[in-house]
Amino acid sequence: MGRLIVVSNRVATPAQTKESAGGLAVAVFGALKGDGGIWFGWSGDVVSESVAHAGPSLVLDGSVTFATIGLTRKDYDQYYRGFSNATLWPVFHYRNDLAHYERDEYAGYRRVNAWLAHKLVNLIRPDDNIWVHDYHLIPFAEALRSESVENRIGFFLHIPFPSPQVLQTIPPHEELVRSLCCYDLIGFQTRNDQLAFHDYIVRNARGEVFEDGESARVEAFGRKLRTGVYRIGVFPDEIAEQAARYENRQHVIDLEQSLEGSKLIMSVDRLDYSKGLVERFHAFEQLLEREPEWRGKVTLVQIAPPTRSDVASYKRIREELEREAGRINGRYSGLDYTPIRYLSQQYDHGELMSLFRESQVGYVTPLHDGMNLVAKEYVAAQNPRDPGVLVLSIFAGAAGELTGALLVNPHDAAGTSEALQRALSMPLAERQARYETNMEALRRNNLGVWRDSFLRDLGNVPKPH
Ligand code: F6P
Repeated sequence: MGRLIVVSNRVATPAQTKESAGGLAVAVFGALKGDGGIWFGWSGDVVSESVAHAGPSLVLDGSVTFATIGLTRKDYDQYYRGFSNATLWPVFHYRNDLAHYERDEYAGYRRVNAWLAHKLVNLIRPDDNIWVHDYHLIPFAEALRSESVENRIGFFLHIPFPSPQVLQTIPPHEELVRSLCCYDLIGFQTRNDQLAFHDYIVRNARGEVFEDGESARVEAFGRKLRTGVYRIGVFPDEIAEQAARYENRQHVIDLEQSLEGSKLIMSVDRLDYSKGLVERFHAFEQLLEREPEWRGKVTLVQIAPPTRSDVASYKRIREELEREAGRINGRYSGLDYTPIRYLSQQYDHGELMSLFRESQVGYVTPLHDGMNLVAKEYVAAQNPRDPGVLVLSIFAGAAGELTGALLVNPHDAAGTSEALQRALSMPLAERQARYETNMEALRRNNLGVWRDSFLRDLGNVPKPH
């Protein structure tokens, strides 16, 4: 039986895989432990050329090898900060207005993919299956193939796949899709993402797609591959247990006391423009404006740790959010009341789950999101006897599964504020019914199902050569 090799831009540390923090890390580690394997990727460090070239550094934990490698400043700037996060990320989230394209960055992106692939080659055995994750690594399989690697190689895209017209705003779009077609199996978060890819194959690449439900055979650029939909999930019972375990900790008691009976709306996101944070604040402001009885009686806690803060568009969204939080608070605060508590800090996973459990509303309104695991974690963390209500954007992949949520269009501030009002006033029986519907969906399609179905389908792909 072959091993599994997981490749992702960032690699969790062995310690991170032991707790239930970061569901993906737990699922991937679970799969690696089975028959042993390797988790390969960037260490997260920017290092000198000699250190980078000496890599990867290997840490063995049981049967799993964590193989990480540093990036030089130039590689980081071109591959990670540049083409991955200033071109692909905004375009794949339908924010062409925020994207920029530089030939040098694209060349750096391909160069780093080729270099990482080259570094992995010596670790691969003939019967290993290779599972590559996310938009940073679109050309990775092509680079491995050019090093004569003949193993099965699968790819899972964690973010949306844009419609062809949007994708075409990236000048080398065709080369990118040609590279994607070097994978044997491509997994998408939702059917919409898969269809957008098929659309490009048929209309732009003059390829062929043979669909069989949500699984498809694709022939394009002289290659045969498969695509499928694999909705990433969480382990709901572990989250419920963690949320309950943290429930009586001091941070929860402190928050509860400081709220003085006011209802709590919780939001947690990376500080990213795709998360709809400013629109969310505006809808909350409308609630206070249109329903004055809520003033002093409801608090929005927004936790938003900064990420990618050296990318210009991330600096701007941070400034805008801070300005809006200040403006709204200036307008509606009292001497003993602050409507928005905005915390740009990282919190421990267990603490977050217990804060979710404490709240009456989970407010998750991205403008575009591959899946959004926060929405799923919010549901799983609730107390079944007194669950909170999830207010969820129709543009999160999770909206297709969490039919018990109140679905909103985040561009519609009035509609979103009405949903908040409804969630805050919802009777217990309806809250419980919605919670049960959502929990059923989470249990049916947990993180293990996502992982196992992808790896089963990858294992069934005929070997390419
Ligand atoms: O969900 C998309 C993603 O890019 C993941 O691949 C990554 O783990 C996460 O967002 C955090 O992003 P970054 O690694 O850029 O901090």
